[in-house]
Amino acid sequence: MINPYLPLEAEVVERIQETPSIVTLRLRLTDPDARHRFYCAPGQFNMLYLYGVGEVPISIKSGPQSFLDQTLLLDHTIRAVGRVTRALVKLEPGAKLGVRGPYGRGWPLNQAQGKDVHIITGGLGCAPAVSVVHELMRQRSRYGRISVVQGVKHADDLIWRDQYEHWAKQPDTQVLLAADQANASWRWHTGMVTGLLDQLHLDTERSLAMLCGPEPMMRASAERLIELGLRPEQIWLSMERNMQCAIGHCGHCQFGAAFVCKDGPVFNYPAVRELLGTRGF
Ligand SMILES: Cc1cc2nc3c(=O)[nH]c(=O)nc-3n(C[C@H](O)[C@H](O)[C@H](O)COP(=O)(O)OP(=O)(O)OC[C@H]3O[C@@H](n4cnc5c(N)ncnc54)[C@H](O)[C@@H]3O)c2cc1C
Ligand code: FES
Repeated sequence: MINPYLPLEAEVVERIQETPSIVTLRLRLTDPDARHRFYCAPGQFNMLYLYGVGEVPISIKSGPQSFLDQTLLLDHTIRAVGRVTRALVKLEPGAKLGVRGPYGRGWPLNQAQGKDVHIITGGLGCAPAVSVVHELMRQRSRYGRISVVQGVKHADDLIWRDQYEHWAKQPDTQVLLAADQANASWRWHTGMVTGLLDQLHLDTERSLAMLCGPEPMMRASAERLIELGLRPEQIWLSMERNMQCAIGHCGHCQFGAAFVCKDGPVFNYPAVRELLGTRGF
């Protein structure tokens, strides 16, 4: 972290149109010194600041390799849903914006060492999970089996299909995909992502699950994993809330006694289980 209050200038070096409403922006900090000092853990996020429009939290998709080899390209995959994100996805290469971060607590990679890791994501929830899969693959010998389970509403919404196919070919790696609505070329599961969890090679003693996506999907998946034998403490999930300061001062992201920006976005399931799905939280 460089200065938690001060956005650093970044330039869009590449814009990838993933679907009509989802764009990946590849950013480079313009100050080489800041580039050398920037480092983040999988699961953390940046605040992207579009001058004169506003600022939003967006997960960092780049894996740590990008930081280690000094190229430091910060990939952010953004779905246009409102005022700021609609403006962000229109940026073209050469455009400038502000970046504050990285913020929050990422995935529990230390606890995952020596364990099977099951990553279960829904919708664009796959963005914060991609960096962790890259890291697990980079340090492959430290972990047991890896499962990547991804659900989308419609088969057309699946982005990074090549990446899933590449991961499926890696040793001791299971990839399971689901779409609520299939299309003609869909050859995976049709239905909800929870319908795939029975197919996991689940060694309940040495497993850890990482969940990311809409809250009802994470709640249903966590409860199903518990029915299948995981203890709640073996489950971690990444939460989203509206944010402003991102450093635990303004209270916008409060979730019970916790601040999602500072105590999360990744939480151990027992810490959020009761409030998850409660109206008003
Ligand atoms: C830690 C974290 C990581 C995130 N990572 C990503 C990411 O990688 N890619 C991505 O596209 N989005 C991500 N988001 C969500 C993103 O921050 C919101 O979509 C964005 O703030 C919406 O701002 P807006 O001005 O475009 O929309 P607004 O005009 O503020 O709102 C448009 C609609 O989106 C809803 N909304 C606003 N903020 C959120 C939110 N935080 N979560 C859920 N719904 C919201 C509003 O209720 C409204 O219905 C993340 C959020 C958090 C907290
Ligand atoms: S965004 Fe201000 S306290 Fe979390």
